Amino acid sequence: MYELITALRNRTHKLLYKNILQPVLFQIDPEIIHDRMVTIGQFLGKFYVLRQITSLFFNYSNKNLEQEILGIKFNNPVGLGAGFDKNAQLTQILPSLGFGFAEVGSITGKPCKGNPKPRLWRLKKSKSLLVYYGLKNDGSDAISKKLKKLRLEIPIGINIAKTNSKDTVKVDAGIRDYAKAFKKFISIGAYFTINISCPNAYGGQPFTDSVKLEKLLTRIDKIYTNKPIFLKLSPDLTNNDVDKILEVSEKHRVNGFICANLTKNRNNSRIKDSIISKEGGVSGKVVEDLSNDLISYVYKKTCVSHAQNKKTNGKFVIIGLGGVFKAEDAYKKIKLGASLVQLITGMIYESPQVISEINQGLVKLLVKDGYSNISQAIGADNK
Ligand SMILES: Cc1cc2nc3c(=O)[nH]c(=O)nc-3n(C[C@H](O)[C@H](O)[C@H](O)COP(=O)(O)O)c2cc1C
Repeated sequence: MYELITALRNRTHKLLYKNILQPVLFQIDPEIIHDRMVTIGQFLGKFYVLRQITSLFFNYSNKNLEQEILGIKFNNPVGLGAGFDKNAQLTQILPSLGFGFAEVGSITGKPCKGNPKPRLWRLKKSKSLLVYYGLKNDGSDAISKKLKKLRLEIPIGINIAKTNSKDTVKVDAGIRDYAKAFKKFISIGAYFTINISCPNAYGGQPFTDSVKLEKLLTRIDKIYTNKPIFLKLSPDLTNNDVDKILEVSEKHRVNGFICANLTKNRNNSRIKDSIISKEGGVSGKVVEDLSNDLISYVYKKTCVSHAQNKKTNGKFVIIGLGGVFKAEDAYKKIKLGASLVQLITGMIYESPQVISEINQGLVKLLVKDGYSNISQAIGADNK
């Protein structure tokens, strides 16, 4: 009965969103809508009653989706990707929307206004967004102070990036900036993500270079934390680049990878719109195949061989994101090797009920394949 009511509720939401709300929202500047949605979400999260009502409208739970990964309990594998809740304003409402976890940020050492506007565009035919925010956020001091006071119901990842400024372009200055932000969150949140793949920041993505990454991770090793650390990778890396990053990561305190960030490459057959800006990275369906290829490659290279490697006696954990719009998209990433998935663009095109739709769909797909828990499906198509 619970399953049926949830499915009917979700179908009604979808119809209302697609036919009434989305056509109106999509007439308005995307950054304005993004800001308004965050304000509404923050307001709803402040009050117990509003959180409960939101839960009735959006939440879904099922034991088959629960997992413990790196000592963290996840009620379901669907999380919010970094970049939607830049200043950690939504941590109180996200559990009611049905998310199993969420990542806040990217957060930088210093506050950052981001790049000049306009810096967010919808690519409707491509079911994607063009993003040129440039790491707009309130900075590590303000955000850590705010988060310290809050009770966090679901695992919250802290996504750290390098401040978007000329001052952090030199490698040593960049490392100091990462370390400053990192130290502020030692005991806040469930895991760290080190974002080395922002396509929109001053000086490019220097820490995808293995020599510079080695220096950065050596510095991070010296900061005590018992929280797992993920590296967020670009979908535009060559296999050779990825190999070098994996090699360096094995020597340091890296527990896994987030695959993937936005793509800068405009030669992508899934781009169906004419792109106005030369700047910016593309999300959604345009990045989906690239993200899947990266998940598959990293899983094969590390997790499969690691499982047999007595010395490391473990494996890297992969969080897959890029173009997750429905349960089948999420399941594909999981079967390629992702233990968890995240999304942003899917929620914008499909509305927030998509989170419980995906979770409910995953339960059905697991049953179809004869699995009793989501963890059994991880990497099933990539052994
Ligand atoms: C509006 C927007 C802002 C983003 N900002 C960040 C960010 O600050 N840090 C980050 O690591 N990724 C950021 N991303 C990238 C997403 O986390 C994700 O990697 C990418 O959008 C692909 O997922 P999707 O197709 O589900 O949106 C942003 C994406 C969007 C759409």
